Formats: sequence, structure tokens, C-alpha cells
Amino acid sequence: MSEPARAPTFRSAVVPAAGLGTRFLPATKTVPKELLPVIATPGIEMVAAEAAEAGAQQLLIVTSPGKDAIAAHFADSSELEAELKARGKDSLVQKVRRAHDLIDVRTVTQDEPKGLGHAVGCAREAIGPDEEAFAVLLPDDLVLPTGVLTKMAAVRERHGGSVLCAFDVPRSEISAYGVFTVSDTDDDDVKQVHGMVEKPAPEEAPSTLAAAGRYLLDRAIFDALDRITPGSGGELQLTDAVALLISEGHPVHVVVHRGGRHDLGNPGGYVRAYVDFALDDPDYGPDLRAWLAARLNG
Ligand code: G1P
Repeated sequence: MSEPARAPTFRSAVVPAAGLGTRFLPATKTVPKELLPVIATPGIEMVAAEAAEAGAQQLLIVTSPGKDAIAAHFADSSELEAELKARGKDSLVQKVRRAHDLIDVRTVTQDEPKGLGHAVGCAREAIGPDEEAFAVLLPDDLVLPTGVLTKMAAVRERHGGSVLCAFDVPRSEISAYGVFTVSDTDDDDVKQVHGMVEKPAPEEAPSTLAAAGRYLLDRAIFDALDRITPGSGGELQLTDAVALLISEGHPVHVVVHRGGRHDLGNPGGYVRAYVDFALDDPDYGPDLRAWLAARLNG
């Protein structure tokens, strides 16, 4: 007899996507930042694929008024597919269908830009009362290779509570992130978290371990989000809600990610991600590599 399937640790993945994308203006006047492509795939589809791969069944995208194109990207596209089929472009049909087939998508609206903590709180009603934990994926962050959420789920099974993803950054860059105070566990890649602070000055940062945009949160976070006040930047910070839970004895751990990461949230990071993926692409890589080499020597 085969083993009964293990209950997945989480069913819903929340993707906050309500920002104005100011760093990508003027493109983001009409195109949501989350739909900007890496080669030809929008960043948010890559993040949806990561969530689905980790076992999520529902993607809750937190959007703001005027960003309907995000949900449209995941909607049924049978008309376009029929047109492509009629033209014999079957491989394109697969590409077009992928977003819709990956995962069930629901959107919730954040009416006012009150911060990441507030955005996550907007997903509360869409998460079932039986769901003890849920994932959050920030679509600006690509964490590579994928798979860290699965490791985070295993850590929650062992230690309970909430599990975040950390990566080591140079101290000079630390003030862009949520930063952890940690101690070791018996697994070198897993640390226990004793405190978390949003965007500290470099000299005040408790470590160089920064939050990397992947969270597996116990639903106790919603109650904590109700109790925080505006923090860094005058916004309701997810970091402050996590810190509040820690101060009340809720277990929090991080998985230290030793792989790569791209920040799609600013043009500089986006260009890097694009070039990185293009260099590995069988169609575009060889040409790009030769051109880049000549360009750099030119
Ligand atoms: C957010 C979080 C921060 C985290 C970062 C990762 O900051 O508030 O804790 O380290 O994402 O990218 P933001 O980049 O939205 O300023």
C-alpha cells in the first residue's frame, strides 16, 4: 500500500503587486511593473510558477486600482490560442496557456499604499479559516534556483511558527532590507530568529542576513498586523509584525539561501536578470555572449 499523501503545508500564496512602479516610469504609466518580461515571461508568471511548484493551489495577487492587466495575464486566452492553432503555432499555444494553467488566481484590492504589512493583511479574508499558514512571495525578488519554499515548509514542520528566507548581503547594502538577529541551529542553513528590524542604518544592523522576499507565515501574523503602527517610511511593515510575534514567543526561523537572487524592482537589477536569463537561453544566449564580449572589448 502506498503512503498517504502528506497534507501540503500551505495552500495559498500571496503576491503583493499594488505598487506604482515609480522606478520604471514612464513604462509603468500603463504597464504594471510585474508584467515586465524577463525574455518573454512576465516576472509575476515566474513567481506564480515558483509558488505552484512548491504546492500552492491559490495565488492571491494584491493589486491596486488600474492594474487589471495583471489578472488579465492569468485569465483564459482561448481566442488567442485558437488563432495561434489556426496558424500552426502550437508551441506558442503552450506558452500562452501556461499562466492560466499554473494555479488558480484571485485578486484582492489594496485601495491605499499603506505598506507591505497592510498589503498582506488585505489577503486575510481570501485565506480559508482552516489554513494555518500561507506563503508570501514578493514579485520583485527572484530567488534562484527555485525550491526555497519547499525547504521553508520542511522547517515549519519541524520547528512550527513562521519561516522566512534570508540571504547574506554586504553591510553597505543592508539598509535596503529587513534584517535578522539570529542564532545557530543544528542545520547550518537554518537559523533561529530573535529579532527583525526594517531598513536599519548599516552600523545598527544586527547582522548581514537580509529578508529575501519569501515568507511562510503562520496565520497569527494577521492578528499581529492589526496591532502594529506605521514604521519605516511611515508604512505598516510586515517586518514589524514578524518582530512583534517574535517578542511574544512565536517561533521564527530563516532558511539561509546560498544561491542567486535578482531584484526586478529597479531597472539596474532588472537588466542584470534579463542578461543572466538571456545568456542561458538556447536561442539568444550564444549570440548575446559573442556580442557582449565584443561590446566589452570595444
Ligand atoms: C521589502 C521588505 C524587506 C525585504 C525586501 C526584500 O522591502 O520590507 O524587509 O528585505 O522587501 O526585497 P522593499 O524592497 O519593498 O523596500
